[in-house]
Amino acid sequence: MTETQSRWRIPLSDVLVDDELVDAVLGVVRSGWWSMGPRVEQFESDFAAFCGAAHAIAVANGTAALHLALLAVGCGSDDEVVVPSLNFVAAANTIEHTGAAPVFCDIAGPHDLNLDPADLEAAVTPRTKAVVVLHYGGNPCDMTSVDEIAERHGLVVVEDAAHAPGASLNGRMCGTLGRVGCFSFFANKNLPVGEGGMIVTDDDELAARLRLLRSHGMTTLTWDRHRGHASSYDVVLPGFNYRLDEVRAAVGSVQLSRLPEENAGRARVAARYRSALEDRAGLTVPFGGDDATRVPSHHLAVVVLPEGADRAAVRGALADAGIQTSVHYPPIHTFTAYQGVSGRPLPQTDAVAERLLTLPLYGRMTDDDADLVAETLLQTL
Ligand SMILES: Cc1ncc(COP(=O)(O)O)c(C=O)c1O
Repeated sequence: MTETQSRWRIPLSDVLVDDELVDAVLGVVRSGWWSMGPRVEQFESDFAAFCGAAHAIAVANGTAALHLALLAVGCGSDDEVVVPSLNFVAAANTIEHTGAAPVFCDIAGPHDLNLDPADLEAAVTPRTKAVVVLHYGGNPCDMTSVDEIAERHGLVVVEDAAHAPGASLNGRMCGTLGRVGCFSFFANKNLPVGEGGMIVTDDDELAARLRLLRSHGMTTLTWDRHRGHASSYDVVLPGFNYRLDEVRAAVGSVQLSRLPEENAGRARVAARYRSALEDRAGLTVPFGGDDATRVPSHHLAVVVLPEGADRAAVRGALADAGIQTSVHYPPIHTFTAYQGVSGRPLPQTDAVAERLLTLPLYGRMTDDDADLVAETLLQTL
């Protein structure tokens, strides 16, 4: 029994730990080469091929991916970057760390928790440099409208694709729809490594800049020098150490090979939730409707509770039944550090903020467990 299973009857997320994964880790440990090297290169080329991107750059985590992407596209002081407030705080934090100002935009509404393109447009000023779009819960956002607005105003589109490995829109993978896409391999993600991230782009120059920024601005890596491909290095810009190590890259490659099956399992559970919960007891299950052009990755199973529902009580009742839940997310503009930072009204975000509830979801979750979660939620309401 794993740690996560021991605390909850049905945890929010779960990972499969098996011999293939353990052997991958031990293989790296035994190889004696632990920092960035051949496994990182392999993981990068596999991930690039999976996404259909020209370049994939492995980094320490998804936050590092966002930070480097924003820096590499040129965000800095005097710039504004629009981002939906209904997102993980990393997007706003990393915008701040480039010196730019985050400007929060609204979501479309309870049926579509992705950004509202009309409000993105309303948030644009002459200082706007970029927009960070989130594919909330792995549901591709309306990139046609985003692209059109970005083109008209000369904005760079950065994708926060942390929820969306394997999600696609019109046959193109999320992460490759903007200028640069950022993924997270945090322990609860569809492709869990523990900590890890990836940046994808088709832009050769941007990729070269991202590689430099990832490793101190150095022109060669320790791995290059070890192989005799270089004997020294120059530093051409002030970079960071945002590298991924070999152990985590080896885990990442195994998890990437399992991603299609993981996403299929998530799709099965999400469909079961939808048929049990949609329009029942005042619940809204967002992102409904048939649209063959959009393939979600089902990172999150989110429901919007009826207006006035006591979310803490609902979560408490589910917890009493051994069912772990979460909230994605407390909107960024409500945090102490961001209150009043952008000052734009966000009525749709505010209207759902206290009503969002995330249910357990992972590929190996059984139909019986999904039914139990749905039944318990309906009884609670
Ligand atoms: C939407 C989103 N963006 C960014 C991140 C940051 O990723 P990481 O935790 O790997 O730094 C996360 C993950 O936690 C996320 O869910």
